[in-house]
Amino acid sequence: MAEDLNITTSTDKTEQYTALIPQIEALLYGEPDLVANLANICAALKEQFKWFWVGFYMVKNGELVLGPFQGPVACTRISLGKGVCGTAWQKAETLVVPDVEAFPGHIACSSLSQSEIVVPVFHNGEVVGVLDVDSELLDQFDETDAKFLEQVVKLIQF
Ligand code: SME
Repeated sequence: MAEDLNITTSTDKTEQYTALIPQIEALLYGEPDLVANLANICAALKEQFKWFWVGFYMVKNGELVLGPFQGPVACTRISLGKGVCGTAWQKAETLVVPDVEAFPGHIACSSLSQSEIVVPVFHNGEVVGVLDVDSELLDQFDETDAKFLEQVVKLIQF
């Protein structure tokens, strides 16, 4: 496909995801390289939603290691159960954090980040990584983001 994304100007989240997800699917179609695909997912999400930080941490040798991302530099390694990412990994569930200051053990890669969502990536029933999205505004993520970002990570082929 052409590499230009069609960015919707709608402010409705469902419309934004509904327009974006088929384009992400097309970007990934026929491309077996995991890093390339994770990188394009981050770029597509960042381009549509203009979030502060969008990226993947992937499980490697028992810890989460920074993968492809868009945004400022970030912490490279997160242990199981640590921070929002390590907790989402441990619980194998999506975590929506409206105020990162109120999340015990939140890892502040940037003091600008105020709310966050972390979505586990599954392969063969195991968490193999997480998609982490940060906003510099409070309370930016909800069940709609959880639902659609879970659909996005299901597009990843291993
Ligand atoms: N805040 C995350 C760490 C990763 S950065 O936000 C990019 C956490 O608490 O796990």
